[in-house]
Amino acid sequence: MTRHLLDLDDLTPAELGEILDLGFAPAGEPVLSGMGAALLFQKPSARTRHSTEMAVVQLGGHPVYVRPEEVGIDERETAEDLARTLSCYHRLIAARVFEHSILERMAEAGSVPVVNLLSDLAHPLQAIADLLTIRAEFGALGGRTVAWVGDYSNVARSLAIGCALTGMQVRFGCPDGYAPTAGELDHFASLGSAPVVSVNDPKEAVQGASVVVTDAWYSMGQEDEKELRRPIFEPYRVDTDLMVDAAEDAVFMHCLPAHRGDEVTDEVLDGPRSRVWSAAANRLTAARAAMAWLLTREA
Ligand code: CP
Ligand code: NVA
Repeated sequence: MTRHLLDLDDLTPAELGEILDLGFAPAGEPVLSGMGAALLFQKPSARTRHSTEMAVVQLGGHPVYVRPEEVGIDERETAEDLARTLSCYHRLIAARVFEHSILERMAEAGSVPVVNLLSDLAHPLQAIADLLTIRAEFGALGGRTVAWVGDYSNVARSLAIGCALTGMQVRFGCPDGYAPTAGELDHFASLGSAPVVSVNDPKEAVQGASVVVTDAWYSMGQEDEKELRRPIFEPYRVDTDLMVDAAEDAVFMHCLPAHRGDEVTDEVLDGPRSRVWSAAANRLTAARAAMAWLLTREA
């Protein structure tokens, strides 16, 4: 059966554990040797494009980057026809899209693994990189608390799923209207036994947490909401005052790109607790491990 990685709940806890272990293992077989990987982007990218391209190279394959204006999904041809076509040339399709459903349609129609490089709903490779970073910092993940402050974004959702699958507690500190719904919280709870809760107060969310994470107050495609959102999110800025309430050895993470001065101050982003560059470096490890896992687990 062809396996896909559209979000981390495509994996069992054991499978996610295997991918994380691969991330800590020495380089394995060049499973893409002589083969291609199509990398489609409907939105801009620095980390995801470069880390995924280099991961394909490290696995022995040839990445073909497709620019936003070249993609033409559902304009030039349907997502299904594009997936069928790219499956003729490539061993894997990876895509950054506006609508998550496009990935689901490509996975359904194509005959090779589809990897989500960020959608409106999820960012699984970022979550794997974040889990690798937390594991490198603290060792075992189980029992740790991750505090998510700010917007309940695509990155937040994938990280929460990753935490649920690895036994970490999650405390969301999000403003009303920008927090996970009860249905989402129920979904996380169904994936593991560690509590996942949502509170309004960012200070309550970070209390004693090992990891404090945030994301931009407005994601790609939401730029026109910037002024509307700013006053709502002001109290959710991660600054040194907020970090005081986290555990003494707590670290700060952000998927980047950061809007410095909005969701996080320079002092925290560039400070001693910041692990943003380790997480950025782990994007390459995460992409390599996830692709190697997908390609070797396929029948
Ligand atoms: N974190 C992340 O996905 O960065 P890019 O948008 O630059 O790829
Ligand atoms: N939530 C952000 C993440 C960027 C990596 C966005 O979707 O723009």
